[in-house]
Amino acid sequence: MQRGLAERLICLHDEIKGDASLEALSRIAVALYDDTSDMLKTFIHSTDGDVPFEHLLARMSDLPNLQQLAWTGARRTINDLTATSEGQEFATRLVESGYRSSYTVPIQHKGTFYGFLFFNSPEVNFFSPSNLNRLRPYAELISLSVMRELDTVRMMHAAVKVIRSVSSARDEETGSHLARMARYARMIAEKLAPKYGLTDEFVEFVFQFAPLHDVGKVAVPDSILLKPGRLTDEEFVVMRSHVEKGVDIVDLMVRDFGLKSMPHFDLLRNIVAFHHEALDGTGYPYGRSGDQIPIEARIAAVADVFDALTSVRPYKRAWTNEAALALLSEQSGIKFDADSVAALVENQAAIAEIQAQFGETLYD
Ligand SMILES: [Fe+2]
Ligand SMILES: [Fe+2]
Repeated sequence: MQRGLAERLICLHDEIKGDASLEALSRIAVALYDDTSDMLKTFIHSTDGDVPFEHLLARMSDLPNLQQLAWTGARRTINDLTATSEGQEFATRLVESGYRSSYTVPIQHKGTFYGFLFFNSPEVNFFSPSNLNRLRPYAELISLSVMRELDTVRMMHAAVKVIRSVSSARDEETGSHLARMARYARMIAEKLAPKYGLTDEFVEFVFQFAPLHDVGKVAVPDSILLKPGRLTDEEFVVMRSHVEKGVDIVDLMVRDFGLKSMPHFDLLRNIVAFHHEALDGTGYPYGRSGDQIPIEARIAAVADVFDALTSVRPYKRAWTNEAALALLSEQSGIKFDADSVAALVENQAAIAEIQAQFGETLYD
């Protein structure tokens, strides 16, 4: 498997520090922007000393200085953080972690804003004009790598959207279902991060790939997919085949788009392949149990079932959050990952916020 972005960033950071005048560059970090929720999210970092930010989400409109940079595309140099940090939560945290200067570069291309690249040093006045010149090509390189990876994921999403738009799977798996379950999955992954050692990069790709879990449904006939009422045993077999069809589609996309080298391809494949497995081995199609089911699939399963229960479907009305959480809790540790269920139960305000933002709409 190819190395992820974070690993590549760490190597590049080492190389940059090989330049004697850049030796005191102790932190490089990338935060991504999600325009549908106006959130800035920590993503990857390479840090020598204290890690000031991790598993962090912040609303961009609460950060007017950064928002300004995003709009104008301007780069920002702060050569004495202690002088400017007063009343600024994030700058204060940087100072507390020992940093004294910062250089911020918006990552953007052709009108699309992807996020920010942050450089920090414990030295005051580190970002001198000559050091900024030396850093420029590296900033460019990191920005390009981040954009390339995100564009690849966007391309896969676009391809799936196209096949979905010509199939009835769009009626079953609405756009708002996918938007909500992706955010539940993200929230769960974030809560599980400390215990499972999940990086922000991993959390981000859970968010990106969770909505592709049912891509195989495009291969299930309408008569079964949209049938009101119970499926017969034979129809169930066909319905369940969406998992293996999904794995075939993912493999095809990866082969035909030349994405073999995509570092997070395993994560996508695992979510598609194992999102109907159950901890006790009663799931389908492989009957895997416990830890044989990758954590990303256990997370996606809980997010998916929770949203399916709380949404209207052709054959059922929407359950209340309480009723859905009660069912998940009952099966927690039996069918569903206990940590993932607990993350939902303990964060009902975040659930309500996601539901308020992504109400029921037709697939767009
Ligand atoms: Fe499914
Ligand atoms: Fe689903």
